[in-house]
Amino acid sequence: MVGQVALENFPFAVWSKLVMRHSRRVRISSLHFSDPMGSADFRESIAAYLRTARAVNCEASQIMIVSGSQQALEISARVLLDPGNAVWVEEPGYRLAQQVLKMAGCQLIPVSVDNEGLDVADGMKQCPKARAAYVTPSHQFPLGVTMSASRRLQLLDWAQRTGSWIIEDDYDSEYRYANMPIASLQGLDRNSRVIYIGTFSKTLFPSLRIGFLAIPADLVDRFVAVRHAMDVYPAHLHQAVLTDFINQGHFSRHIRRTRQIYSERRNVLVEAIANEFGSGFQVLGADAGMHLVTVLPGRLQDREISERAAQDNLWLWPLSPCYLTKNPRQGLILGFGSTAAHEIPNRVRQMRKVLALK
Ligand SMILES: Cc1ncc(COP(=O)(O)O)c(C=O)c1O
Repeated sequence: MVGQVALENFPFAVWSKLVMRHSRRVRISSLHFSDPMGSADFRESIAAYLRTARAVNCEASQIMIVSGSQQALEISARVLLDPGNAVWVEEPGYRLAQQVLKMAGCQLIPVSVDNEGLDVADGMKQCPKARAAYVTPSHQFPLGVTMSASRRLQLLDWAQRTGSWIIEDDYDSEYRYANMPIASLQGLDRNSRVIYIGTFSKTLFPSLRIGFLAIPADLVDRFVAVRHAMDVYPAHLHQAVLTDFINQGHFSRHIRRTRQIYSERRNVLVEAIANEFGSGFQVLGADAGMHLVTVLPGRLQDREISERAAQDNLWLWPLSPCYLTKNPRQGLILGFGSTAAHEIPNRVRQMRKVLALK
C-alpha cells in the first residue's frame, strides 16, 4: 500500500527504552514553554545528518522541527505566499501538498514532468513569474523520476532571476537502489532560494508526526513568528527520544536495514510484474523510494481497477487523480514498503486477474 513502511523490523525495544528513559527522568525545564524552532540538541543532530547524508547546506540555527512535511508546507506557505500568487506544482503531483497551497489561496500551475523531472521550460512558458515552485527532486511523487543536474540548475537559475522560492520536499531520498544517493537541490543553491523539507514518516513511521525544515538564514525570524502563532512550539518527548536514537547510531542502522529490505521487495516486485505481464508492461520510477508506477495499457481506467481490486483486498492506487489537467495518464501506484517479499508474487498475480476482468 502506498505510504506504508516496513514496521516488522523497527527496533521497538530500543525505541521503548528511550521513551521510558525520557518519560521517567523528566527535566523540569523540558515541561515549560520552549523554542518555536524545536529543541537545540535535536536540531544539532538533524543538521549534522542533513549535511552528511543529504549535502544540505545548513546550521542548526536554520532547522525548525515540525509535525511532518504537511506542517512544514503550511508554515512555508504562510510565510512566503499571498492569496492569488501562482505556484508551480508537478504534474502529476502530490495532492496533499497541493491542498495546502490551495488553502493558502494560491493559483496552482501544473508543470509537466518528464524523464528529467519538472520541465522548467514548460513552467517558464506557462507562468514565468510564479512566486514559488513545489518540487520532489530526489524522487518525484508519484512518477519516481530523479531531477537531472541540468534541470536543477535551470530551476535554481529561474528562482534567482525572478526572486521566486523553491520548496524542496525530500520525503524518501534515503532509499535509492540502482545508483548512489543524489544530493539535495538545496545543497546546490548559492542564493538562499530553497526551503528544504524532510520527514521521519518514511525512515521511521508516519504516526510519529515529526518533520523538519532547513530555512534560509534570513527567513528564520519570519518562520518563527508564523510557527509561534500557529502552535507555539513542538512537543518535547519525541524530540528527546529521537535525538538519542540518532546520536546512538540507531537511526542510520535502521536506514541501512530498511534499505536492504525495500531493495529486495522492489526487486521481487519488478520481477513479478515482468513474469506476469511481460516486459512490454511499462514500469516507472523503480530505482528509488517505496513505490513504483505501472502504466496501464489500452483503455483500462485506473480508478475502476482500483475499486475492483479493493473489493478483493488489494490496494492499487490510481495514478490519474494525481493530475490536475485533463487527459491524465492511466496507471497504478504500487507501494511495496509494507508488503513482505514472499507475498509480492501472489499480489501481482491477483493484480493480473483484476486487470484481466475488463
Ligand atoms: C511527496 C510526499 N511528501 C511528504 C510525505 C510525508 O508527509 P508527512 O511528513 O506529513 O507525513 C509523503 C508521504 O506519503 C509524500 O508522498
